Amino acid sequence: MADFRIAPSILSADFARLGEEVEAVLEAGADWVHFDVMDNHYVPNLTVGPMVCKALRKYGITADIDVHLMVSPVDRLVGDFLEAGASWITFHPEASQHPHRTLEMIKAGGAKAGLVLNPGTPLSGLDWLLESCDMVLLMSVNPGFGGQRFIPSTVEKVRALRALMDQSDRPLRLEVDGGVGPGNIAEIAAAGADTFVAGSAIFGGDDYRQTVGALRQALASVS
Ligand code: DX5
Ligand code: ZN
Repeated sequence: MADFRIAPSILSADFARLGEEVEAVLEAGADWVHFDVMDNHYVPNLTVGPMVCKALRKYGITADIDVHLMVSPVDRLVGDFLEAGASWITFHPEASQHPHRTLEMIKAGGAKAGLVLNPGTPLSGLDWLLESCDMVLLMSVNPGFGGQRFIPSTVEKVRALRALMDQSDRPLRLEVDGGVGPGNIAEIAAAGADTFVAGSAIFGGDDYRQTVGALRQALASVS
C-alpha cells in the first residue's frame, strides 16, 4: 500500500479558533496541515500569510505544514514561509517568473518543494522541472475557494502523472486538492495519488475523527 497522507485544508476551519481546530484535526488522525494562501490577485480570494503559519508553530503544531501558495509573484513570500516553519511549499508555475529558481530557493531554505497544476494546465507544464520537485499537486477544482465539486477528468490526469513519476528514480509525492472526500478518495488513490487535501469534507462535519477515519478506511481498500 502506498504511504498515504491526509492533509486537511484550513480554508474550511473556524479561523477564530485556528490553533484548536488544527490540533483537533491532527488528534483525529490527520497527517499534515494544508495551508492555503490566497492573494486576491492570482486567485479571487484572500486568506492568510506567514504570520499565521508562524502562530501555528508557536501554538505547538509540529505536524508538517503544507503551504499551498496561490499568489503572484511567488518569490517574495518564500523566505517568509521558510522562516515561519513551512515544511512543504508548493506554487503555481505560471505565477512565478522563474519557477526553476523558485523550486531551488525553497529547497535551499530547507523545505520540500512542489509545483501545482490547475485543471486546465497540461502535464507538459512539468517539463524540465519535475526533477527539481519533491511533490506535484494536481488541482481537482479551480483554485480560490473551498467546497467546490471534484472535476472527474483529474482521475485520468493522476494516472498519467503517476506513470511519469514512475520514470523518476526519486520519491515524488502526488497530491490532489479540491472536492476530495470519503466518496471519491479511493478512486483517486487507485489512480496513483498518495496525498489528499480535504477541506469542507472534514471541517464541514462535526466529528473530525469519524471523517478522517472514513477517509482512511476508504484508502485501506486500495491495494
Ligand atoms: C482551493 C484550495 C483547496 C480547498 C480544498 O483553492 O486550494 O485546498 O480548500 O477545499 P475542499 O476540500 O472543500 O474542496
Ligand atoms: Zn490548497
